[in-house]
Amino acid sequence: MELFDAIKNRRAVREYTTENVDKESIRKLIDAAIHAPSAVNNQPWTFTVVRDKEKLDELSVQAKAYMLRSISDDPGAAHFRKQLEDRDFHLFYHAPVLLVISSAEMEKWANEDCALAAQNMMLAAHGSGLGSCWIGLAQHYLNTAAGKALLNLPIEWLTVAPIIIGHPSHKASATSRKDAVIYWIDPN
Ligand SMILES: Cc1cc2nc3c(=O)[nH]c(=O)nc-3n(C[C@H](O)[C@H](O)[C@H](O)COP(=O)(O)O)c2cc1C
Repeated sequence: MELFDAIKNRRAVREYTTENVDKESIRKLIDAAIHAPSAVNNQPWTFTVVRDKEKLDELSVQAKAYMLRSISDDPGAAHFRKQLEDRDFHLFYHAPVLLVISSAEMEKWANEDCALAAQNMMLAAHGSGLGSCWIGLAQHYLNTAAGKALLNLPIEWLTVAPIIIGHPSHKASATSRKDAVIYWIDPN
């Protein structure tokens, strides 16, 4: 797949088949992730691969409850509140795999480094015919002591990117993009 096509056609995938993703495919995605740039080449990322359905179901319930307690009452959050209140809404869309990218150190560029690894991983998933979606709604819970305990993550780790992976059940619809705001600072 041509790189620019991959960048333009990757979509957040929210509907998956029940087919699992084998370890070799997951290792390939992680290999793509670790080739991301990182500040002073620190490579602070760690990868926690959750393929246990019961764990994912439990994490969905707990993270939804946590988010409901913490989101604001402002009208802008109404859509999320409705989703989180829906008992049938699965935070991970029943995807077979959740790949959590965390930083082992709370260092200055941890967020940037892990986000770049996440983008590499999502593009590699797309290039391999897999779907992915960053689940920000799980991120805050995974940074609490209870959330970390659920996945046995060390307490000092910072979770940046919870990414679901699976086989898309169909092609996700295109999403719109705003026009880029560009300022050219050219010589006179
Ligand atoms: C930081 C971040 C957090 C996100 N959190 C969620 C989420 O919790 N649930 C979800 O369904 N999609 C989530 N998404 C996916 C976005 O909604 C999606 O990328 C956006 O709508 C654009 O669609 P596209 O990725 O198909 O171009 C998140 C994306 C990012 C980058």
